[in-house]
Amino acid sequence: MKFALGADHAGVELKSRLGELLRARGIEIVDFGADGSAPADYPDKAAAVARAVAAGEADRGLLVCGTGVGMAMSANRFAGVRAVNPSDSFTTRMSRAHNDANVLALGARALGPGQACELLEVFLDTPFDGARHAGRVAKIDSVVE
Ligand code: RB5
Repeated sequence: MKFALGADHAGVELKSRLGELLRARGIEIVDFGADGSAPADYPDKAAAVARAVAAGEADRGLLVCGTGVGMAMSANRFAGVRAVNPSDSFTTRMSRAHNDANVLALGARALGPGQACELLEVFLDTPFDGARHAGRVAKIDSVVE
């Protein structure tokens, strides 16, 4: 399992914490930054991570900005990327089980670090249910207008 990581200036600290969690679980990381406090535009980081996932260079993506909203909006412009911006465990679990979400976009200003770690764990530990959901996910991926 390989994860592509990205954050804007608001998400740098939380990205680092979540990266530690991934490493501790033996998950390989490709980190596209940002790494400091200088302003970094979230669409740029989302694009780098989304391209890596869409190209199969990473299995999953993790994006962090202030809310996770701009990251998810940006990442979902890329074919084959299914980004979710949850704030609770149920939605996170369902996004994997029913929607096969492959990018997790979290808000560093919306979640405490403990909550964010919990959501990442749920994202990691929940498999896609497939079956009746597979055709629906294929429909998501088939829509390009
Ligand atoms: C940056 O101030 C903020 O707009 C960004 O981190 C994010 O929340 C956008 O969705």
